[in-house]
Amino acid sequence: MPRQTTQHDFTGRVAVVTGGAQGIGLAAARRLAGSGARVAIWDLDEPEMARARDALGGDTLAVRCDQARWEDVEAAAKATEAAFGRVDILVNNAGIAGPAAPLAAYDLAAWRQVIDIDLHGVFHCCRAVVPGMVARNYGRIVNVSSVAGKEGNPNAAAYSAAKAGVLALTKSLGKELAAYDIAVNALTPSPAKTRILDQLTPEQVSYMLGKVPRGRFVEVDEAAAMIAFMASDENSFTTGATFDLSGGRTTY
Ligand SMILES: NC(=O)c1ccc[n+]([C@@H]2O[C@H](COP(=O)([O-])OP(=O)(O)OC[C@H]3O[C@@H](n4cnc5c(N)ncnc54)[C@H](O)[C@@H]3O)[C@@H](O)[C@H]2O)c1
Repeated sequence: MPRQTTQHDFTGRVAVVTGGAQGIGLAAARRLAGSGARVAIWDLDEPEMARARDALGGDTLAVRCDQARWEDVEAAAKATEAAFGRVDILVNNAGIAGPAAPLAAYDLAAWRQVIDIDLHGVFHCCRAVVPGMVARNYGRIVNVSSVAGKEGNPNAAAYSAAKAGVLALTKSLGKELAAYDIAVNALTPSPAKTRILDQLTPEQVSYMLGKVPRGRFVEVDEAAAMIAFMASDENSFTTGATFDLSGGRTTY
């Protein structure tokens, strides 16, 4: 685990972390809550979400939400505003990998599911919280994309396309909201050892890892450190941008 040397002050801030029940989202939620934020986790996995809420303690809210469904996201936003009054920070982190398969054999329902969760879900969550951020002239949105969205991984067409869509959504929304104190940025991690990798074949994981000059998985706390800066007051100028976390695979 990287040594934490920077502490951003999130006192008084309300953060939503989608997919915050485990993995990168839980690490981000831990870091934000540990620096004073009240955190709402929106996730599908109720047992893991309950464990995360207990581990984070304090004011943490756990809301069951399938972000592929607009009705769920709208209800989660209402529940969060009812509990905490507003949303200042949105970490759009929930996602799935989908199967590893060549495009010509890619299951049609799996394709739709990946796009529904990984791209439409991000749109839904932004749509639900942006009006409040605009009204209060404050917001920080962090969209967790993937290095696959920049580079395109073979046998992962749906995931690569959805994550590239998230990068374009980030650029568009960042410009749209640039006149406000709202920053919309994306993060592109290389592989981290989380449950999402169980959806892939060992060959696919070795391919992805083999592309990383650092030669190792990124740790979830390394992702959380970058997310914390992106979500902080201090990130007051950069918007519509992509923060790279690929261990040297991409240098743009
Ligand atoms: N782990 C990696 O190698 C890696 C690399 C690059 C990008 N990412 C991205 O990071 C993000 C977090 O991934 P992770 O590695 O922590 O995976 P994870 O599987 O550990 O966590 C993902 C979380 O999202 C939740 N989720 C899934 N579908 C959902 C839905 N429809 N609605 C709400 N919640 C849902 C899951 O229940 C889970 O808690 C994802 O967007 C993923 O694409 C991961």
